[in-house]
Amino acid sequence: MIQITIDGTPHDVAPGDRLVDAINRAGVPLSQVCYLSILGPIQTCDTCIVEVDGKLVRACATVTAAGMKVSTTASRAHAARTEAFDRILHNHDLYCTVCDNNNGNCTVHNTTKLLGVEHQRYPFQTKPYEVDNSNPFYRYDPNQCILCGRCVQACQDLQVNETLSIRWEDPHPRVLWDGGMPIGESSCVSCGHCVTVCPCNALMEKSMIGHAGFLTGFSKPVLGSMIDVVKGLEAETGYTTILGVSEAESAMRTTRVRRTKTVCTYCGVGCSFDVWTKDRHILKVEPAEGPANAVSTCVKGKFAWDFVTNKDRLTKPLIREGDRFREATWDEALDLVARRFGEIKTAHGPDALAFIASSKCTNEEAFLMQKLARAVVGTNNVDNCSRYCQSPATMGLFRTVGYGGDSGSIHDIEQAGLVLIVGSNTAESHPVLATRVKRAHKLHGQKLIVSDLRENEMARRADLHFRPTPSTDIVWLSAVTRYILDEGLAHSDFLSQWVNGLAEYRTSLEPFTLEFASKTCNLPVETLKRVAQMIVEAKGVCILWAMGITQHSNGSDSSTAISNLLLVTGNYMRPGTGAYPLRGHNNVQGASDHGAMPNMVSGYQSVNDPEVRARFRSGWGVDLPATKGLDNHEMVDAIHAGKLRSMYLCGEEMSLVDSNANYVSEGFRKLEFFVVQDIFFSATCQYADVVLPASPSLEKEGTFTSTERRFQRLYQVFEPLLGSRPDWVIVQDVANRLGAGWNYRYPSEVMDEVASLSPMFAGVNYQRLEGYKSLQWPVAADGSDQPLLYTKNFAFPDGKARLYPLAWREPQECRDSEYDLHLNNGRLLEHFHEGNLTYRSPGIQEKTPDTFVEVSPALARSRGIESGSLVQLTSRHGHLRVRALVTDRVQDGELYMPMNSSTSPVNLLTGSHTDPATHTPAYKETAVRMEVLARAGESPLPRINHRFGHPTPQSGVEVERKWRQPGYRFPGDLVQIETKREG
Ligand code: SF4
Ligand code: SF4
Ligand code: SF4
Ligand code: FES
Repeated sequence: MIQITIDGTPHDVAPGDRLVDAINRAGVPLSQVCYLSILGPIQTCDTCIVEVDGKLVRACATVTAAGMKVSTTASRAHAARTEAFDRILHNHDLYCTVCDNNNGNCTVHNTTKLLGVEHQRYPFQTKPYEVDNSNPFYRYDPNQCILCGRCVQACQDLQVNETLSIRWEDPHPRVLWDGGMPIGESSCVSCGHCVTVCPCNALMEKSMIGHAGFLTGFSKPVLGSMIDVVKGLEAETGYTTILGVSEAESAMRTTRVRRTKTVCTYCGVGCSFDVWTKDRHILKVEPAEGPANAVSTCVKGKFAWDFVTNKDRLTKPLIREGDRFREATWDEALDLVARRFGEIKTAHGPDALAFIASSKCTNEEAFLMQKLARAVVGTNNVDNCSRYCQSPATMGLFRTVGYGGDSGSIHDIEQAGLVLIVGSNTAESHPVLATRVKRAHKLHGQKLIVSDLRENEMARRADLHFRPTPSTDIVWLSAVTRYILDEGLAHSDFLSQWVNGLAEYRTSLEPFTLEFASKTCNLPVETLKRVAQMIVEAKGVCILWAMGITQHSNGSDSSTAISNLLLVTGNYMRPGTGAYPLRGHNNVQGASDHGAMPNMVSGYQSVNDPEVRARFRSGWGVDLPATKGLDNHEMVDAIHAGKLRSMYLCGEEMSLVDSNANYVSEGFRKLEFFVVQDIFFSATCQYADVVLPASPSLEKEGTFTSTERRFQRLYQVFEPLLGSRPDWVIVQDVANRLGAGWNYRYPSEVMDEVASLSPMFAGVNYQRLEGYKSLQWPVAADGSDQPLLYTKNFAFPDGKARLYPLAWREPQECRDSEYDLHLNNGRLLEHFHEGNLTYRSPGIQEKTPDTFVEVSPALARSRGIESGSLVQLTSRHGHLRVRALVTDRVQDGELYMPMNSSTSPVNLLTGSHTDPATHTPAYKETAVRMEVLARAGESPLPRINHRFGHPTPQSGVEVERKWRQPGYRFPGDLVQIETKREG
């Protein structure tokens, strides 16, 4: 630490700290309009000028040095700040009382007060531009824009979508989208970063406008006259009086606007934020303090919450009568569920029933669902949708390093010297996590390699992108590892100290020569050597992977190959290294962690471990069934075989998202009694006998666990919609009707029970997770957690990792002369999964109304296809019709279909073949043929979709261009000149 003095008081600071941070930490009030620590110094506003050792400097751009003498109170510094802020007010009409941004956190309002501005030296001047309302979620008002550039910095260098810029040379600069396009026709992905960081009302969520204030809902002419009245007062009263009124109005808002912390319900990144609500209206989502995301969100977390208040929400239980459903009371429905479950158990035994927990529900709800299965019904037939995507990754890590979770945090990924992404469309599937990679790559010299069949955004940005033959990743990964060992480039100290099984593993690598890999994967040997070289040269390597690896019949082995490669190169046990299987659903990690698996209870404790069974016997007072139950893939087979007769499915659209959808649906028809719990009447509900209306995340409390193994609390934003109930309440009701005698009054009591029975979560409780606090498992009883795993040892009894021998197997489904094309599938940024939630967002629906099949230009030419052509895809398992989108993201005979459709779900085409180790369906091993039904048609992706935009990459806001303008003078210089003149 070094010492500096601020206004005469000594302070200890770290050398190299930004001065503005040191001043803020010292609690000295200082204006700083353009500064946000996560964005770094932007230096556009000049309102942070202080005197340092006699010189006027910007505090945000000054680095602390020992002995520095800082004065914030020097009159010259104050004068410079006031001059700078006066220039800002020249660009901004101060009408706070009738402004939707007057919520106590408006930087312009608060700076006016802080600097004691009474009258403007430079009067407000409008700019010759209209308000831009063309984006469905937010609007830009150039006349309120103070040109601070925070939005540009966020878009260019944090989100790294590179849509925004300011042309400082223009006579009237403003923020530009794609250099001057309407927002709605630009490359903007509606992530909301710019809106969140805007310090005033220039960028604002449309859901706020006219709703936040008491006086803001009036029509434009009325508002205009009110603004004139307010402004008219300024000359006479000064701003103090006006701000007094606006502050009173702002204080009144707190009586009806609630801000509630929640965690995103979409992907596994685990973004958290405050939801601002007025009654049941969502005013906005405001991220700031989330440990995973800070100010970041994607379009779903920021804007796609319309489903919560959608009119189609289920509010009454439904009971099947023949081909129809009738509404029922809760008592009637629950009685029926309990009676039928009881009858089937009595007649056929507990294993005739099965339970599926939801990866969208909370940890507590997953725990209760498996407790219902095991402790009340007496079966281990319980699973969750990680079977469809993540189980192979978990298996690969169990085999090699011991814990089935990401080995570090998003922060580690940011710090890595090299990020290798294999089979993950990270920018669309884990958007906020991807921003950290894009930022590190753009600003901090991080290297990026992408292996993917498609040229997705990360591939486009990568230093090296290659497209291996489908299903062959295990081959190139193992060949690169073998090459590293053969060339003596392995981390031998790490291997000898920390890793078992090298000899046997090396033997298994024998077939994996570079030549074999080159032939099998259709990759040049030089590419493989380059990958190896980049890995061994990098300071730290993080490997990210997802469904492009796991959804193959060798998904577990490929995941294992990734971990083997990391071990051989010593890329565990240090910050900036490790294995990162990116979890898809918000709580897919947590659902497995909390025991919704057929072979493990909470905390990955095996059902046939005597010690575990004894622990649960003492906790629950019952004996756990000792043999592994059916996973959800086996459940479908068991239904067809007549062994499984009843199922309780919570919050999963299984008829569309399991592979071979026709086979799954046929199975559901055969069930004797099927209970589906959901918030909407999903496609799966049509097979149910009873449908129970549940509540989404905003209507309940609990915890989610993100891909970083991070527990976070969600708080109730709304009361459950009348008639619906939180899932944990429903599961408890069912259990009690079956005689369980549970009495959980609040989800924290469930978590206390989890902690008492699961050593891995021993220290988890709601106090430790209060507000934005979080814990990354394993959590010891004293509450200490592990953001980075394996810092002391690996999670095996001897503390050492294990290299796991592998062999190559051909994929189970390949192309042939009849099915001549390979069909890949995956997520789209703006939709989640099948789209049950996101299609209920009108803004998303407008920009991305349907699914499509991507066809390469070469294939399109040869088949006479254009964007909009209607094609029929036929696989060995089914067929569907879909519109084509011609794009060079795919190549040759590769097709790609986003999974977001309930009318043409891609799983009508996928088969039932699986990864043998986990039974995860090989969704990505699908061969199809394509027939053209109609050559011409409307493109399935409208021109207003961001994919047609033209970003304008640059480095941040490029403030130097502003400083070069003839009209610009550094306020500090002006003040010094004036002071000299006065002297
Ligand atoms: S992508 Fe769009 S919403 Fe996101 S920061 Fe850029 S301009 Fe704003
Ligand atoms: S729109 Fe951008 S430049 Fe304008 S005030 Fe908001 S953040 Fe600053
Ligand atoms: S969907 Fe994922 S990236 Fe987007 S806001 Fe939610 S958690 Fe964050
Ligand atoms: S806060 Fe330092 S220049 Fe804006």
